[in-house]
This record gives sequence, structure tokens and C-alpha cells, in this order.
Amino acid sequence: MALVAIIGGSGLTNLKNLEITRREMIRTPYGEPSAPMVFGSLGNQNVVFLPRHGPGHTIPPHEINYRANLWALKEVGVAKVIAVASVGTITDLPPASVLFPDQIIDYTYGRKHTFFGGENRQVRHIDFTHPYCEELRQRLIKAARQANLIVTDHGTYAATQGPRFETAAEIRRLERDGADIVGMTGMPEASLAKELELCYATIAVAVNPAAGKSEREISLKEIEHNLHQGMQNVRTLLEHAIPYVVRDVHTPPE
Ligand code: HPA
Repeated sequence: MALVAIIGGSGLTNLKNLEITRREMIRTPYGEPSAPMVFGSLGNQNVVFLPRHGPGHTIPPHEINYRANLWALKEVGVAKVIAVASVGTITDLPPASVLFPDQIIDYTYGRKHTFFGGENRQVRHIDFTHPYCEELRQRLIKAARQANLIVTDHGTYAATQGPRFETAAEIRRLERDGADIVGMTGMPEASLAKELELCYATIAVAVNPAAGKSEREISLKEIEHNLHQGMQNVRTLLEHAIPYVVRDVHTPPE
């Protein structure tokens, strides 16, 4: 049966309203995913949850085994992936508001970023013009509006290497490049999902003005505060969205 998965990021290592039925560690040809898959039901709908940074938030963005995570999701029958990520804002956006990116610029390096490499494999190139699954994006936007959240319905996500935050000059460059938000985990997660033909969309939660975008330096305290509020918003949004997303998996729109 086709399933919907939620990949939780910082501030969302568990889903409080998920009724857990079982946990399973999936082994993959690429090693182990960040954590055991958590199977359960959210508002009576079956979903799978995977915390991207591990159950205790111990895996930094550049050390996440993105390939194992996506492969494992595919392996257990996932068709749609809702990725949750906290981001710094380059464009002026309210704290704890949600943005649904429609484009990505990848500034990461040295990450294992494809399933199509290595020995004895065919070279393959995927189309990545539209990195996110539009149908899922629209569902999430609709649900966020129904939940009365402050919504930005498009934007460009800059994926940086981390784990440090950027310099003010780096953010100015990202802005010139056309980026609206910046995070450290959006890639290669999105392109690996596309390689596996998973329908993938991101809920980005604004947790701080990016470097140089406010008078102050980036404050972890401020981030934690906005993360807390932002992830509350995401939980509400997921409750609204999941029944529709699950229904779409079973009866895809024409
Ligand atoms: N930069 C990169 N990643 C982030 C930020 C940021 O300012 N905030 C949250 N994740």
C-alpha cells in the first residue's frame, strides 16, 4: 500500500499526535537511515515518520545519510514525502511562518548525492526543472491556509553546507542569486527523492533572519523560540493536510 512519509527536521524529532504502531530499522545498500522508521496513524491515517537528524538530534546536516533515508522510505512503500525544515530568511518573512519553496539552489558539496553512480551502473540524468512535487505543494499550501497560518506560497531555497551559519557576504550572494530562504538539509534530499520518483515537497519554517539581515547576530535562543512556535504550526498544518494527502495517494488526481 502506498504510504505518506514525514521527514522531521530540527524541532520535530517526534510527532506528538502520532499513534505509533511499530518502529523498524530498515537496512539499505547505502547503509542505515538516520533512525528506525516510525509507523503509526495521524488523525486515523497511516503515515511513516523519520527524524532526519536521528532520534536524539545528533546527526549534523553534512553527515546525514540522505541516500539511506530516501531508499528506506521507498523500500517500505512510501509514495509521497513531506519534508519539514527550519530555515533562515533572506527575504523579510515573519518568524515561525511557513514557506513552501518551489525552487532550489544547491551550494552543498561532498555529500553523497545520487543513486546513479559508481561501478557497473548506467549513467542517468533526471529532469530537475521543478524540484518539488507541485500537486503535494498545493495540498500543503491549502492546508496551511485552512489552519490560518501565515503562508508564503513560493520561494527559492538555498541549500548550504553548514553546520556553521553563513557570513553576511555569503547571504548577500545568495540574495543576488535569487534565494529567499536558506537551510542546510534541502539537498541532496530533494534530488534523491526525484531520482526515486517520490513525490516530495518541503514545509520550510522561518526561524531566524539570515546572517546580516538583522541588526543582531544569529541567536540560538531566538531560533529555539521560533522553532518551538513554528513546529506547533507544522503539527496543526499536518493534521489538516494528512487526510487529503493520504487520499490523493490512493486516488491520484486526474
Ligand atoms: N542558515 C542556514 N540554515 C539555517 C538557518 C540559517 O540562517 N536557520 C536555520 N537553518
